[in-house]
Amino acid sequence: MDKLKIFGKAKLKGSINISGAKNAVLPIMACSMLSNYNLHLTNVPNLVDIETLKKLLKSFGLKIKFNKNNMILNAQDISNRLANYDLVRKMRASILILGPLLSRYGKAKISLPGGCAIGTRPINLHLYGLEKLGADFSIKDGYILGKVKNELIGNNIKMPFASVGATENIIMAAVLAKGKTKISNAAKEPEVQDLINCLNKMGSKITGGGTSIIKIEGVKKLNEAKYSILPDRIVACTYAIAAIMLNNEFLIKKINPEHIKTPIKYLSEMGANIELGKDFLKIKKSKQIKAKKIETKPYPGFPTDLQAQMMTLMSVAKGNSQIKENIFENRFLHVSELNRLGANISVKNDTAYIKGNTFFKGAPVMASDLRASVSLVLAGLSAEGITTINRVYHLDRGYEKIEETLGKCGPKIERI
Ligand code: EPZ
Repeated sequence: MDKLKIFGKAKLKGSINISGAKNAVLPIMACSMLSNYNLHLTNVPNLVDIETLKKLLKSFGLKIKFNKNNMILNAQDISNRLANYDLVRKMRASILILGPLLSRYGKAKISLPGGCAIGTRPINLHLYGLEKLGADFSIKDGYILGKVKNELIGNNIKMPFASVGATENIIMAAVLAKGKTKISNAAKEPEVQDLINCLNKMGSKITGGGTSIIKIEGVKKLNEAKYSILPDRIVACTYAIAAIMLNNEFLIKKINPEHIKTPIKYLSEMGANIELGKDFLKIKKSKQIKAKKIETKPYPGFPTDLQAQMMTLMSVAKGNSQIKENIFENRFLHVSELNRLGANISVKNDTAYIKGNTFFKGAPVMASDLRASVSLVLAGLSAEGITTINRVYHLDRGYEKIEETLGKCGPKIERI
């Protein structure tokens, strides 16, 4: 099991290019199952989660070529198989093949994705939306058995909660359904918009991406298409928080400033000195980072995927901060690990109270989920001494070889 050794009091210098967004590539790879023609993707990051989904799709017979950051997927000769538990268990996003399988075969058998460290992660909203399109589900021996009575028919679907994954699954099931579908209270995340833009390039008729009302007009088939994945807003803001915490001048390139308005607004209000360009973010030296009270919300609110990283910055800010986590019921697993590194954070129900003016001191810590593990890396970079992070596979799911990516900009990080 790999570990990361982080040498503290690090200095970030120069610049970094942000790769394509993991949470956009995953649904877009799944949507390739809807077409009999090549889907060419560019700006695809090299991440464990993408490898996992690749394996799962190949187990259905998809042909996938992947070199550097380009991927070509072809689902012409796929056959419906059981999505095996091992692969689905490893990555919840595997549930995103449910909509495409129902659309293509009228039936699907997928193992229940199960929970993960940050919560039970139910899929009731996925099933609710797909049932509205004419699918029936039963759950047996830990599997979801989906069946379409005769064909998927467009419908009006009001989402009880703007679930990202459920919105994506419903869109993918609706693009080839008969007639029109309207999703109200749909997720507005940029990654959902990216899926919509890619599907439209493939010949779908979808409007309203980025708003809470998405309309889909069913089409007969999809065609060959080429699509470039949008930059990862969470990775971009993670590195911005690192530079602000270390108080180093740092340039973050290949980003979409539209997608990070709220995090940048909050960081600036905390005293960070940030220049936002057309496709870059420049962190400059700031005098003092001050405390702040925030809460996570669906887009365009403050993203839950940045909550752990923000907590690390708040620990070294002046004054006491608060973060209310509204999206996941158990996304504070990093608190105990950050406290081991010298933070002073307490949790009451869905709110974390972060004492400021603390200093991190290196120690061995345990990663628990993807974003929590990167908050430990940030703390390790600023700590006195060496921090060893165990179970670093959580990190590899969402950050490309962070020891190399960050190593190139100054910090000394060893993978052992
Ligand atoms: C996506 O997860 C992302 N994953 C998550 O990123 C991200 O944190 C989340 O959206 C919120 O932005 C991918 O895109 C692959 P949700 P998803 O459905 O789709 C509850 C990361 O670190 N819910 O919007 O699962 C759910 O339990 C990951 O990259 C139901 O109750 O998020 C959660 O509390 C972590 N029933 C809340 O909604 C459902 O059927 C948000 O879930 C579905 C979700």
